[in-house]
Amino acid sequence: MINIAVLGYGTIGSGVVEVLSINGDSIEKRAGDKINVKYVLDKKEFPGDPIMEKLVHDYDIILNDPEVKIVVEVMGGIEPAFTFVKGALLAGKSVVTSNKELVAKHGAELLSIAKEKNLNFLFEASVGGGIPIIRPLNQSLTADEIEEITGILNGTTNYILSKMSEEGIDFETALKDAQNKGYAERNPEADVEGYDACRKIAILSSLAYGMQVDFEDIYTEGITKITDIDIKYAKSIGARIKLFASSVKQEEKVYAMVAPVMIKNNHPLYSVNDVFNGIFVKGNVIGDVMFYGSGAGKLPTASAVVADVVDVAKHLNKNIWTIWSSKKLNLADVNNIKHRFFVRISDKDNQLSTKIRELFGSVELLSLEGLQEEYGFITSELTEREMKEKLKQLPVINSIRVRF
Ligand code: HSE
Repeated sequence: MINIAVLGYGTIGSGVVEVLSINGDSIEKRAGDKINVKYVLDKKEFPGDPIMEKLVHDYDIILNDPEVKIVVEVMGGIEPAFTFVKGALLAGKSVVTSNKELVAKHGAELLSIAKEKNLNFLFEASVGGGIPIIRPLNQSLTADEIEEITGILNGTTNYILSKMSEEGIDFETALKDAQNKGYAERNPEADVEGYDACRKIAILSSLAYGMQVDFEDIYTEGITKITDIDIKYAKSIGARIKLFASSVKQEEKVYAMVAPVMIKNNHPLYSVNDVFNGIFVKGNVIGDVMFYGSGAGKLPTASAVVADVVDVAKHLNKNIWTIWSSKKLNLADVNNIKHRFFVRISDKDNQLSTKIRELFGSVELLSLEGLQEEYGFITSELTEREMKEKLKQLPVINSIRVRF
C-alpha cells in the first residue's frame, strides 16, 4: 500500500479522493499497489463527510509520518503551498501538484530538489487541467526542437468569448453568465486579464526550452477590451476571437505573449470553444500536434493529478528527469514580432480614408450595418512597434492581432 496525503479539500482535493474511490481497482493495477489516502489537510471541518476520519489541521503530522510517500498539493497559491511542498521534498516525500502559480514561480527549484533527493515532483494538472501536455513535452516530444506552442489555456475566457460570439452579448453579460455557471470566480481578474494563461504558457515554455521563463516577462493582454462589436466584425469575415497564449522560437530567440487574436477556420484552434482548452505544438521533426479537452473542473483536473500519483508510485525510487534549469531565458522583445492587425477607427465624416491609405496602403474597409461613424480594416504584416506608431495617428477604437 502506498500512503498519500492530500493538501486541500476543495474542488480538486475532493475530486482526487473521488477519482481514487471510483477507479480504485484499475488505479491499483496500473500503479502496481493500492493508493491509500492517509490524510487530508484542510483548515475547515466537513461534518458528515467520511473524509473527517482522515482530516488533519496540522501539516507537521503529515511531514513527520514516514508512511506518507506522496504529498498531493491542491491548495493553490504560493504560500503556504511552497513551504509545504519544499518541506515534503526535503523530508523525502514525492509531490504531485495542480498549482500553476507554484510551478511557474518555483518549478525549477522544486524539480532540482526532487532530483537531488531521487524523488519526483510532477505537475501535469497545472496546465490544461485533464489534458496531457506536460508529459508529452517531457517524454513524447523529446526528439523534437519545439518551434511553437500556442494554446487556448483558459477555459473561463474561452467560455466568455464563445458566449459573446454565439449569442451576440457583451463582455459583462457573458462574464455574469460564466460566474452563475461556476466557470468564473467572483473576482475574475486572474482569468479575464490573462494572468492565468500567462502562468501556464510560462510553464510550457520553460519545459519546451529547458530554462526558466519568468511569467512577469511575458507580454499579457486579457479579454476585457473585447466588445460585442469587435466580435460582430470578426463574424462578418468568418473569424473568431480567441485568447491565445503563445511562445514561438525564431532564429534562437523565444517570443512569448498572451493576447486576443482573430483566427479563421483554417487555424487548428478555431473549433476549441466553450470551456474547452486546446494546445497546438509545432516540432521541427514531428510537425503539428494538437491536444484538446477539459482544461479545468473537478474530475478532469483530478484525473491528471491521480495519473501523476500513479506515475510517482511506479517510480518510487527513481527520479523522472525533467529539464528545467533555473537559468533565466531572456525573452525577445515582442515589439519586433510581426502580425497582421484588425483595426477599428472612429471616422464620423469619412475623412480618414486617405490617411489610412497613406499609413497602411490599400486596405479593404469593413463596415457593420447600423454603425455609420466607424469602420474596420485589416493591415498587412507589421511589427508591434510599427503598429503602435501608426495607431498614434488615428482615432482608434480597438485593434486585435490577426492570425490568418
Ligand atoms: N480558471 C482556470 C480556467 C482554471 O478557466 O482555465 C483552470 O486553471
